[in-house]
Amino acid sequence: MSTNNGYAPGLEGIVAAETELSHVDGLKGELIIAGFPLARLATNATFEETVFLLWHGRLPNQQELAALKNELAALRPLPPATLTLLREAADAHTTPMDALRMASATLDLGSGPQDHLATAKMIVARLATIVASYHRLRQRQEPVAPNPALGHAANFLYMLTGEAPSDARVRGLETYLNTVVDHGLNASTFAARVIVATQSDLVSAITGAIGALKGPLHGGAPGPALDTVFEIGTADRAEAVLQAKLEAGERLMGFGHRVYKVRDPRAEVLGAAAEKMFQADGDMALYELAKSVEETAVRLLAIHKPGRNLQTNVEFYTALLLHGLGLDTDIFTPTFAIGRTAGWLAHCFEQIKYGRLIRPQSRYTGVMNREWVPLAER
Ligand code: COA
Repeated sequence: MSTNNGYAPGLEGIVAAETELSHVDGLKGELIIAGFPLARLATNATFEETVFLLWHGRLPNQQELAALKNELAALRPLPPATLTLLREAADAHTTPMDALRMASATLDLGSGPQDHLATAKMIVARLATIVASYHRLRQRQEPVAPNPALGHAANFLYMLTGEAPSDARVRGLETYLNTVVDHGLNASTFAARVIVATQSDLVSAITGAIGALKGPLHGGAPGPALDTVFEIGTADRAEAVLQAKLEAGERLMGFGHRVYKVRDPRAEVLGAAAEKMFQADGDMALYELAKSVEETAVRLLAIHKPGRNLQTNVEFYTALLLHGLGLDTDIFTPTFAIGRTAGWLAHCFEQIKYGRLIRPQSRYTGVMNREWVPLAER
């Protein structure tokens, strides 16, 4: 932690909340989600089970899970105002993340459910519909109506293409959504907590969190990470391309983390999920290329940035897995939001229950006792 008379730039090292949702150990490379080591939860649970776990602090029984699945499925269709906005945004060539930010704000026109849990279900259910519908509208295709017989992950893939996805792809996406569902007090989660801490509403919190997630230093990195893999093309070019980027002062997307000083455990889980999915239903050559790019990048980063411990982060294998699922790069970050929304909302519940208004201080570094110069004399 770097503090200077109580000032910690970027709030690095400051503990600003207590949570039962996730535990991040950046030195051990460990992530616990509501008591489960990440790999155990991410690879076994459906997304709905993870949502229930975060919102209720325990796994659902069969009836509870069936009820949640049915409720979410019934809430998926978008209000007409949201669809109208998405059509206009597509005509204006708005980016998918900006469209998601705008559309999420329309989910409550002031007449929505009053209780927090009902609002949270509505948000989780509809965010996926917004992303899929907007993707199709941008391609001049009509949105595909949600299929209530499918689970959250399968239905998202179905709404993108209109075709029922393979089991391997559904499992790949469930694992991805579970993996990114929560991660301590990251920037977007903090933004959501700050907003509800003022006793504002959940839709405002999620809209603000989407704005925070959009930036390339947070959720915006997987697209560029994949672009780098494609730019490299073949393993023998990795060294030269990455070396040139580092010499030009560029950051390698998908590497480095504020908290993790070892390999991000999410990279481990997503790398394994990508391997499994590519083996069953994809292009193993691309997976092998990505492995070799990763190895070269980590080696070169150690040389160019000694002592910084720059390792693979979540975004690198996110890019590979989501590409393997058939997703275009411009919906990688919106898909991250579909998973993380459940975590944002769980943090909102904690903040509402236990939290205080979040109001840190700033240290004034400007001049004092300035002389007032009348306008005519300036
Ligand atoms: N490639 C090259 N250099 C990197 C780097 C990367 N991916 N990540 C960090 N560095 C370097 C910085 O240039 C800096 O070097 P310097 O001190 O010589 O100037 C040093 O490492 C520390 O960087 P800093 O920005 O202070 O660390 P941070 O904790 O704020 O950064 C990230 C964390 C994630 C923002 C940063 O690692 C990054 O930009 N990564 C690439 C984007 C990315 O993958 N984002 C997704 C995060 S999950």
